[in-house]
Amino acid sequence: MPNVIPPTIDIRLTPADLRAAMERDVRQGLMSTPKELPPVYFYDDRGSRLFDEITRLPEYYPTRAERSILDAHAIEIITAAGADTLVELGAGTCEKSRVLLDAMASTGRLGSFVPLDVSDTVLWEAATSLAEEYPGLAVRAVVGDFHRHLDTFSDGGRRLFAFLGGTIGNLDPGQRTGFYADLTRAMAPGDALLLGTDLVKDRGVLVAAYDDGAGVTAEFNRNVLVVLDRELHANFDATRFTHVARWDEDEHRIEMWLRCEDACTVTVSDLGLEIGFAAGEEMRTEISTKFTPDTLADELAAGGFAVEKSWTSAQGEFQLTLARRH
Ligand code: SAH
Ligand code: TRP
Repeated sequence: MPNVIPPTIDIRLTPADLRAAMERDVRQGLMSTPKELPPVYFYDDRGSRLFDEITRLPEYYPTRAERSILDAHAIEIITAAGADTLVELGAGTCEKSRVLLDAMASTGRLGSFVPLDVSDTVLWEAATSLAEEYPGLAVRAVVGDFHRHLDTFSDGGRRLFAFLGGTIGNLDPGQRTGFYADLTRAMAPGDALLLGTDLVKDRGVLVAAYDDGAGVTAEFNRNVLVVLDRELHANFDATRFTHVARWDEDEHRIEMWLRCEDACTVTVSDLGLEIGFAAGEEMRTEISTKFTPDTLADELAAGGFAVEKSWTSAQGEFQLTLARRH
């Protein structure tokens, strides 16, 4: 039996960096029309726990659909990728990583696991348990931003880069182009990409997944205001904002907004900002783009990747794609 290898954590994004980025993004976002906040600030400890709850909601099908594909095809994926190192971007609680790690173990390829996430506490908890549960696995966690820190992975081993959960859909087209460019630079010949994408489907099903009956997604959405109140000494008062999820037919995406029901002025003390909201004004907090197999293949080709194989869940909700650099 191999020994437990103590996990390491590489902090590319210090609390001070995160703070500086938050000040810049929030200032810019609140002064834009329409107002907008980047989704990365959802994921403080409370936000990460709320997201974990979302993944178990009856309406939120993507996690179960993606998980079912992994359960059915992990060994095939790992074998096709030939990987002994799993690099996972936006890994969160690393629940799905376990399925891939199990496949690496059972095919005799359990080398290293490199999860990257901005949410340091959740990442560290997951890294510690995984190192204990998988003796012989080197867990090298990275606290970082996948928009900025893809240049930091050391070489060594055949790597599978996984980007799951449909998180690619949370990037707008320009950000996705930048992301693929960063990724092709980070990947060595022979490395593979495993990308999880949600697919276009009935709009009622899509909207319900982002506006659940128990109100967990609403609470998650409003949590970004709680974060700004705490971190930047703002006075948003999240209870004054309503969660809105809507399908944009032209852009093929769910958009999440926070609507200020009554006119108000919000002060962001640390930025010296006073921001007016009109009654009913909406601020955009997230997009979640849905793909078709064709739009995805075109986008990957333009981004420098060739699709090697793809798998769709039984009801056709979600797709996993294995791709290689051209
Ligand atoms: N992969 C998991 C979690 C998806 S939720 C799953 O499939 O269930 C999105 C994850 O990405 C969260 O853990 C969040 O903290 C992380 N994240 C969001 N924006 C990020 C960014 N810019 N850089 C790195 N991680 C980010
Ligand atoms: N990657 C997830 C998705 O697009 C993130 C997510 C799920 C999300 N529910 C949310 C983000 C609600 C913001 C608000 O499905």
